Amino acid sequence: MAKYNDLDMKKWKEYDDILTDSLWIFDKRDKSGVHNASYHGNFVPQIPNQLFRRYTKKGDWILDPFTGGGTSLIEAQRLGRNSIGIELQEDVAKNTQELLLEEKNPDTKGKIIIGDSRTVNIGEKLQQFGIDKVQFIIYHPPYWDIIKFSDNKNDLSNCETLNSFLDSFGQVIDNTSQYLEKNRYCAVVIGDKYANSEIVPLGFYCMNLFMMRGFKMKAILVKNFDETKGKANQKAIWRYRALASDFYLFKHEYIFVFKKIKQ
Ligand SMILES: C[S@@+](CC[C@H](N)C(=O)[O-])C[C@H]1O[C@@H](n2cnc3c(N)ncnc32)[C@H](O)[C@@H]1O
Repeated sequence: MAKYNDLDMKKWKEYDDILTDSLWIFDKRDKSGVHNASYHGNFVPQIPNQLFRRYTKKGDWILDPFTGGGTSLIEAQRLGRNSIGIELQEDVAKNTQELLLEEKNPDTKGKIIIGDSRTVNIGEKLQQFGIDKVQFIIYHPPYWDIIKFSDNKNDLSNCETLNSFLDSFGQVIDNTSQYLEKNRYCAVVIGDKYANSEIVPLGFYCMNLFMMRGFKMKAILVKNFDETKGKANQKAIWRYRALASDFYLFKHEYIFVFKKIKQ
């Protein structure tokens, strides 16, 4: 049995819903329990579900530095994993904390810290739970300024330039990954941007931030997505624009998985 998950390889044929291919197509969002799609910019619960079952064990601690509507924390709770979220917006953090209570698992602990993931003192918070490391980190940052999450200047969606966005995300990686246990994993969910008639490959730039820091690249997963809320009902006009021009419509985003091999 691998040390980083609970999979029993004697029963490997029973795990047919655990993905092992790099193309992740989800037809429908999992809306069971308290999961809902109301937080604009959230991801589907299937993403944390797949990652947590593959890379964590029951009782492990998961950190989500961009908590938002709490999809990862809900999923962690359901799967018997403990979780710590960080969210800049106080009202969002409070709503999510309430949502978590609606489906509380008595065997798990979970807390949302209101703060800036670039600078918040994570070590201090971990100590409150009697731990000094986490076993998985899931990063779902703003895709730079595609969706503006708040007016807070510390919000990564308010970075004025690509470089300041990458610099800020790098600070989040440094501030959080020092608390990831060695030989464990982290993942980033991110999409690209199109502006001024060209692609800004945010995904690959962000991937590079981890590679520059000595993480071992374990997976480049491509996940489908449908129209975002903003573009719903505009399918035809976007198809027309693409066909009349030289670009393609985004239908995918990335999930990069890394292993921490240095202390
Ligand atoms: C893409 S959303 C995450 C959505 C989440 N995965 C979900 O399923 O609901 C990014 C979140 O990061 C938050 N955020 C932006 N900058 C931040 C920062 N510096 N520190 C902490 N949170 C930040 C935003 O307020 C937003 O809620």
